[in-house]
This record gives sequence, structure tokens and C-alpha cells, in this order.
Amino acid sequence: MDKHYDLAVLGGGPGGYTAAIRAARKGLTVALVERSELGGTCLNRGCVPTKALLHTTDLYRELSKAEEIGLRIEGLSYDLSKLYARKDAVVGQLRSGVEQLLKANKVDVICGSGRIDEAGKLRVTTDEQQDAPVEARHILLATGARPAMPPIEGIDLPGVISSDELLAAPPENCRRLVIIGGGVIGVEFASAFSSLGIEVTIIEALERLLPTLDREIGQNLAMQLKRRGVTVATGAMVERMTREDGTLYCHYTAKGKAETVACDLILVATGRRSDADRFIDAGSGIRTERGGVVVNEHYQTTVPHIYAVGDLVHGGIQLAHVAAAQGVHAVGHMIGEDAGIDLDTVPACIYTDPEIAVVGMTDEQAKAAGIETVSGKYIMSGNGRTLIAQQDRGFIKILAEAGTERIIGAQLMCARATDLVNELAVAIVNRLSVVDLARTIRPHPTFGEGITEALEDVHGLATHIMPKRR
Ligand code: NAI
Repeated sequence: MDKHYDLAVLGGGPGGYTAAIRAARKGLTVALVERSELGGTCLNRGCVPTKALLHTTDLYRELSKAEEIGLRIEGLSYDLSKLYARKDAVVGQLRSGVEQLLKANKVDVICGSGRIDEAGKLRVTTDEQQDAPVEARHILLATGARPAMPPIEGIDLPGVISSDELLAAPPENCRRLVIIGGGVIGVEFASAFSSLGIEVTIIEALERLLPTLDREIGQNLAMQLKRRGVTVATGAMVERMTREDGTLYCHYTAKGKAETVACDLILVATGRRSDADRFIDAGSGIRTERGGVVVNEHYQTTVPHIYAVGDLVHGGIQLAHVAAAQGVHAVGHMIGEDAGIDLDTVPACIYTDPEIAVVGMTDEQAKAAGIETVSGKYIMSGNGRTLIAQQDRGFIKILAEAGTERIIGAQLMCARATDLVNELAVAIVNRLSVVDLARTIRPHPTFGEGITEALEDVHGLATHIMPKRR
């Protein structure tokens, strides 16, 4: 490791590898240090494997309604180990793509574990060398976060697991699953496993599922999940977990009442935390707060030649696409260029059925910020494509600033919401108004027509919404 690099990246997830490739394209010499597999949480234990599972479980549930659309499928069943094998194949293919891209961009990938020493230098331990310095003009930290396991009695019992373990091996013989935490991970796994006929109970501490999102989304989702047999306990605190004769018991209090649910597995999905303190020497000058690295608007830590992006950033948004965008921005800053990405507008997607996608502000947030708003909403049960595709009813809500009618937020809960949201993100970033967006003809029959209707509804003109009684 005697080469002197322009940039050394620690962590090969979407934040790290995207930054490494961008830096190499910009002519920098780059090393990327990864102790495990390239692709990080997103590719190996997060976004990609969960969506691969959800693709199959959604299809399975849809096929169980096959009779309704004239298909006869006899003896429909599933093989969990094959389902997991297919997920692994998707992950493997994408991971090898990342490997090839790094190689083609001449990024030196170092398999090893790194730390930042008291002098702010990167030191790496590989199979060949112990704690060897990697010389670099800039360092970018992108080591991600780990599942946070809350200090609840019984958290160490066998069968009490995080999403990492639930994705690592098929949960054979699991007929009853309890999920602690009704956030993003909780609801996606509830959707996947309930589709396979597994009895699922979600226990969420706050008053609704997805408590950080628009109220209507959490409430609607709870309704949809309950219709599919999922038990949803909100305002519920887990007191302890016990195990007897191979059965787990989750004891919780909901609305003042003590409850116990028996199950085969307990998934703990109560958030993810960075543990940057473990590999950053306290004497290095890099400030951390509750395990997260403190950065400025260019993702520089308190030591200017060291940057940090992604899930390890204190107070940041833990999403793969955010980490990647931050990495590109940070590289731009290193070379004195503005990468031109609006980092304040972040679409977020949840792959339940129906899908959920949000971008910009909610009505509540706009009110809190003192912004007067106008809005339009379309219920997707009137959308032809939704009915054709046997999709659950959902909605599209668009929020604009009163007066200018500049679009400032959108909440979607409908089929293909995760793709439709892009159009609204483009509108927000480019400060487009309701009129600007309504100028476009959207093809028929598509889910996207719901956007036209929601835009028209701002002025009470949506064709497929009944007129209000005068
Ligand atoms: P989260 O922060 O989304 O949700 C955790 C939930 O657990 C919260 O609703 C919280 O109120 C609840 N909770 C916390 N302690 C609890 C307790 N003791 N008992 C009951 N409930 C409790 O965290 P999650 O779901 O673990 O996801 C971690 C990160 O990964 C998130 O930032 C998320 O955005 C990201 N992610 C993104 C996905 C996507 O983009 N589709 C998919 C999965 C994860």
C-alpha cells in the first residue's frame, strides 16, 4: 500500500462505490477499502434483497386472485429456499456488476478493515498487513449503519433477530412472526411474509405505522394490512420477550392493557445506528454524536480532508440514493466543482402493496413552516389502469404553495408509486407549478393519469372526480 491516492474511500456501499467511480471518472486516483462484500447494506442486506423477496411474494398473492381474471392455477404453493436462492442470485449479479465497474474505472479495491487513527490517517488491516497506512489526499467515510437492538429483556434470545439475519437464511418453519417496529423495514417485511400466509403481528410504539410520514398513509396501510390478516398494535410498548419449549412470547402493553403474543420468530426493526466511534480514534478530531459523524453541507467532517456520507452521518436520511448523491456531491467539493444535485429534495419509497412514495413536504410540515398551501387529491379507484391491474385503491396527493402554486410536496400510495414519484421530484427541484405540470398530456390508460387528476383537482377540475354538490 505504498501508492499515494487522491482519494481513499472506506466502505463499498452505494455511498462509497458511487463516490469512488465518480472520482475516478474525474481523473482522481482512488482506493476503496471494504471488509466484507461490495454493495454494502443496500445491495447485500437491504433494498435489493427485500425488493427481490417482495417481487415474488406480491406475485404469489396476486396469483391467488387469478380466478377473478380468468386464470386457473391449481396447487399454487411456494418453496422458501428457492425464493431465497433467487434473491441471492439477483444480489450476486448486481454485486459482480459493481466489482466490474470499479475495476473498469481503475479503482483499487482493498479487502480489509479500516480505521482512522489519531493523526486522521486511514489505516487498514488486510490478510497480509496489520494496520498499514493508506496514503491519500482525501478520505471519504461511508461505512453505513447497523440494526439498533433496543435494551429490552429477552433481546438476546434465539429467534429474536434483525433484518440482516432474516435476509441471510430462509425462516423455515416460521408460521408466526412478530415484528417490533412499524417503520419502513417493519411494514415491508410484514407485507412480504403475510403474503406467504405467515401470521404477522406488528408492534409499533407510536400511534400509527410509518409515524414520520403523512397521517393518511400510515392509517391506510394499517387498514390494508389488517385486511390481509396482519395484527397491528400501535401505541404499544414491548415489555419483554421470553422463550418456552421453542416458542417465543412477546409481552407488550397497548393502550394500558397487557398483551402476550406467541410466535416462532421476532424481527426487531426499531431503526439503524452508525457505530463510527468504533473505527474513528477519538484523538483524530472528527466529531461524532451518538455514533454518527457530524458533517457540514459539503459532507466534510470536522477534519476538512475527511468527508462522510450515507447512513453514518449524524442526523442524516438513511437511504441508498441519498448516500450515493452525497458521495457525488462530496467528490465535487474535493475537486472544486458543484455536482449540481439538489440534496434537499429526497424522494422516499416503501415497497408495500400498494407502494408508497413521498417527496417534499406534507401539509402538516408546510403548516408548521408557516407556508399557506393549496392541494389536490385523486383516489385511484377511479383510475382505469388500477382497476385493470386488480390493484388496491390508493391515492395521489399533491401539495403546492398558495399563490405561486409551486409544487412543494407529494404523497402517493398506489400501484407504481415508486416510479411515479420521480415526476413530482423533478417538479419540486425545478420549481415547477401546478400549471407547468398540468401542461403535459399523460397517456391512457396509465397509473400516471392519477397525477393529472390530482393536479386538476387543485382547481376543482378533475374529470374523474364527482363534482362537489353546490
Ligand atoms: P425506522 O426508523 O423507519 O422505524 C423504526 C420504528 O420502530 C419507528 O416507527 C419507531 O417508532 C419504532 N420503535 C422504536 N423502538 C420501538 C420499541 N421499543 N417498540 C416498538 N416500536 C419501536 O427504522 P427501520 O424500519 O428499522 O429502518 C431503518 C432505516 O432503513 C430507515 O431509515 C429506513 O428509511 C431505511 N430503509 C429504507 C427502505 C426503503 O427505502 N424502502 C427499506 C428499509 C429500510
